[in-house]
Amino acid sequence: MIGASLPHESGPLHVTGSAPYLDDLPEWKGTLHGAFALAQTAHGRLKSLDVDAARAFPGVVAVLTAADIPVRNNAGPAAEDDPVLVRDLVSFHGQALALVLAESFEAARKAARLVSAEIEAFPALLTVDEAKAAESWVLPPVQVRRGDTAAALAASPHRLSGTTRVGGQEHFYLEGQGAYALPREDRGMHVHSSTQHPTEMQHLVAGMLGWEAHQVSVECRRMGGGFGGKESQSGQVSCAAALGAWKTGRPVKVRLDRDDDMLLTGKRHDFLVEYDVGFDDGGLILGVSFVMASRCGFSPDLSGPVNDRAVFHLDNAYYLDAVAIRSLRCRTNTVSNTAFRGFGGPQGLFAIESVIDAVARRLGLDPLDVRKMNFYGPSDGSHRNTTHYGMRVEDNIAPALVDRLEATSDYRHRRQALQAFNDSHRFLKRGIALTPVKFGISFTATFYNQAGAMVHVYADGSVLVTHGGTEMGQGLYTKVRQIVAHELGLEVERVRMLPTDTSRIPNTSATAASSGTDLNGMAALQAARAIKERLDTFAAAEGPNLGWDDLVAKAYRARIKLWESGFYATPKIHYDPKTMQGRPFLYFAYGACCAEVEIDTLTGENRILRADILHDVGRSLNPAIDRGQIEGGFLQGAGWLTTEELWWTPEGRLWTHAPSTYKIPAASDCPSDLRVDFWEGDNIEETVHRSKAVGEPPLMHGLAVYFALKDAVVAAVGAEAALNLVAPATPEAVLRALGGLSGTQP
Ligand code: MTE
Ligand code: HPA
Ligand code: MOS
Repeated sequence: MIGASLPHESGPLHVTGSAPYLDDLPEWKGTLHGAFALAQTAHGRLKSLDVDAARAFPGVVAVLTAADIPVRNNAGPAAEDDPVLVRDLVSFHGQALALVLAESFEAARKAARLVSAEIEAFPALLTVDEAKAAESWVLPPVQVRRGDTAAALAASPHRLSGTTRVGGQEHFYLEGQGAYALPREDRGMHVHSSTQHPTEMQHLVAGMLGWEAHQVSVECRRMGGGFGGKESQSGQVSCAAALGAWKTGRPVKVRLDRDDDMLLTGKRHDFLVEYDVGFDDGGLILGVSFVMASRCGFSPDLSGPVNDRAVFHLDNAYYLDAVAIRSLRCRTNTVSNTAFRGFGGPQGLFAIESVIDAVARRLGLDPLDVRKMNFYGPSDGSHRNTTHYGMRVEDNIAPALVDRLEATSDYRHRRQALQAFNDSHRFLKRGIALTPVKFGISFTATFYNQAGAMVHVYADGSVLVTHGGTEMGQGLYTKVRQIVAHELGLEVERVRMLPTDTSRIPNTSATAASSGTDLNGMAALQAARAIKERLDTFAAAEGPNLGWDDLVAKAYRARIKLWESGFYATPKIHYDPKTMQGRPFLYFAYGACCAEVEIDTLTGENRILRADILHDVGRSLNPAIDRGQIEGGFLQGAGWLTTEELWWTPEGRLWTHAPSTYKIPAASDCPSDLRVDFWEGDNIEETVHRSKAVGEPPLMHGLAVYFALKDAVVAAVGAEAALNLVAPATPEAVLRALGGLSGTQP
């Protein structure tokens, strides 16, 4: 059972179209539909709002504004900074001004367009560069240093400084944000929400209405993808639906259409990276300093922990002896950026890998050799194995894993073959790169690392399980079901999963930080184990040869408790958020990817020819699920760094607001030659069946594609030009780096 490639527990429902997502739930009589009226200015004072035309529109029942919110007007995780509806300050183009409630979704949407606002416009800061120059922060700058970086830089035989950029990313979950609120008796509310964080939704709704948490329950059976976009940003629609239901006494559904979803909700943070690195003749980094400035948008949301994680991942798999990091959290008049698969980690890896690549280019070395030379040292030695935040790297498998992939991908031969190809082709150029990933597993906010679960065994022997995690396609429910079935010695068919509901398991953490299975799987295991032990004791007395159903039936009659709750809190972790020192992670997940690409130097167009991935999932609970996570993560990461480009007009309006203008990878963008392998080896930590988290780390394999594109640019026009290739490396960006397109990146 553990390690079996069982299909996703909702697989048959998915493929037959019968897995209900939020908008598929049967509607209660009297249901109203909500749509937001959006601001058409990036920054300004809301002087007046004219909702008369919207109110008069056929089918409209009410138009709600900030004045209708009884207590807290906040839909975000931090302080009171994310208004459900604008009260007086418009902070970005597309912010929600009013909520129109109508008998149909169409009527609500049409009427929302009729709301007009008088806004006194203020100057707007839109980009990282503008905000950095103006010292406009959502949170104070953070510094982390180790050693005397200035001295190390000054003493280095070689020195290189530079600037690079990496773009943001739209989550593009297939199911948009949505919530459906049902008023319940005696000042109660039940909210179906497409959310990774039901407990936060519960607290936001209760806070908005001035209620206690026990008056609100939030439920989520599944999401059509979250990718971090529904960790906090599901708050606004959840609050809006609950506000409408509270005001009208009728069930209210708010679901965003794609354009509104892209305009209204936060994305991955784009970063401006400035570095100064000192190194020796062989490419060993002796000292490095970074300024990492990110576009946080108008409010903090999760920008604090996202930028912290970027800082924690600036080393990737490398020992940085003398390092100084300044992390700037820029406040801009754009949508509030948020969690996105990797949660700042990918941007940290991008920065250090860019430095490594630049060092290699400067010295004329193979970037893979420079990577290998900078790896953390062996885990047993005392040297070169402590991170810049003071955590010992105890399981450094990166060198061995990279060696293995170097061999299995045939990296060295292919680099030679590629040279021959490039020598004989004038317009087509190929490039190759092999990049490692080391990713810390645990929420950096230590208290989030806890979970609960409930296992019910009914008198007929069937089992019902619920836990605090949410299902977004990643296979959490499938894995938890396997874990419980295995523990009780049952077929998975005997175990059924209940939707996640705050009234079943309280005080849950977001399903995020890749730790869904580590936390909830362990809690469910504890519960199942307690029942099993009780039944084992009973069986020892009653006859050990009883089958499960008979044993359970007998135990019930003997008044044995057949249900149990489980709880898990991650051990060993601690860290001081002020100094950013400690052990924020229980362990690291590793992997590496070798990608080969081809560019057309006349157009900048490019494609991935082949990708080899070797990934460490510890002892896999379900190889089929894990493989899906690795493939999907890789392609999502490749999309981030190649085709997905967010573009704002000078007025601050998001121009790439739909799939017409925002290009996620299609099936045809997946390399036809994609080879995924698992690194064999148990987690050294006592995780559930020694597995490792797999949700986020594979996204960073997309880096190999970006650095392979750089390699191809180097082949075409030389090493210095590659320094100009920013991410996303769209065809335009590639052409620009080749010198074939004038003008600057918008
Ligand atoms: N896989 C699918 N199919 N859909 C998703 O939304 N989200 C990713 C990852 N894999 C996601 C996914 C993100 S951002 C995280 S943090 C993890 O799944 C969360 O689930 P886990 O902790 O159970 O791995
Ligand atoms: N990862 C993902 N989500 C989070 C984290 C984290 O470290 N901290 C708070 N939310
Ligand atoms: Mo994932 S970004 O931690 O939801």
